[in-house]
Amino acid sequence: MKEVVSVMIDEKTLADRIDVLGRQISEDYAGKQVHVICVLKGGVAFMWELAKRITVPLTMDFMSVSSYGNEKSSSGIVRIVKDLDQSIEGKDVLVVEDIIDSGRTLSYLLELLTKRKPASLKLCTLLDKPDRRVVEGVDVDYCAFTIEDKFVVGYGLDYAQRYRNLPYVGEISFEEE
Ligand code: IMP
Ligand code: MG
Repeated sequence: MKEVVSVMIDEKTLADRIDVLGRQISEDYAGKQVHVICVLKGGVAFMWELAKRITVPLTMDFMSVSSYGNEKSSSGIVRIVKDLDQSIEGKDVLVVEDIIDSGRTLSYLLELLTKRKPASLKLCTLLDKPDRRVVEGVDVDYCAFTIEDKFVVGYGLDYAQRYRNLPYVGEISFEEE
């Protein structure tokens, strides 16, 4: 099968929207320090672009959880591949994700992080596919784009670990060769 990627959200649209989110987050955290937790690997591109636009003092840490492998549908099994380096106790934590699909990954992660007693815990995602949600209680505080139920790649998102480096969000389709 041949993989064909078509542009869904172009670079300019992404940058403009992330400008707005960066300003909003900077206002909401005025007078505070934000501790950004990037969910690897998909969240890296978005987190970096967002962090550049946040004007309050900022620290960052990285975590890797997995529920997918190379499959396109959720396994329902979430495991920590890499835990945080620093404690989040008493910190104003902002979790930055690439996409919320079934919500299983975030539901698990938010429950785990809440137990570590942050001062506050908010969630920021590049993409949200609300039609696919199977888990209740994943409150999204900041979402750059809500999209339809399409499998997307680029800007951190992968298909079989490829395409993360695309500077745009694209829809992937599969054609007979
Ligand atoms: P959830 O647990 O079903 O919400 O899955 C979240 C994770 O699945 C994301 O962090 C992605 O790694 C992956 N994922 C879900 N939808 C897509 C997609 O359209 N493209 C690439 N990865 C996706
Ligand atoms: Mg992810």
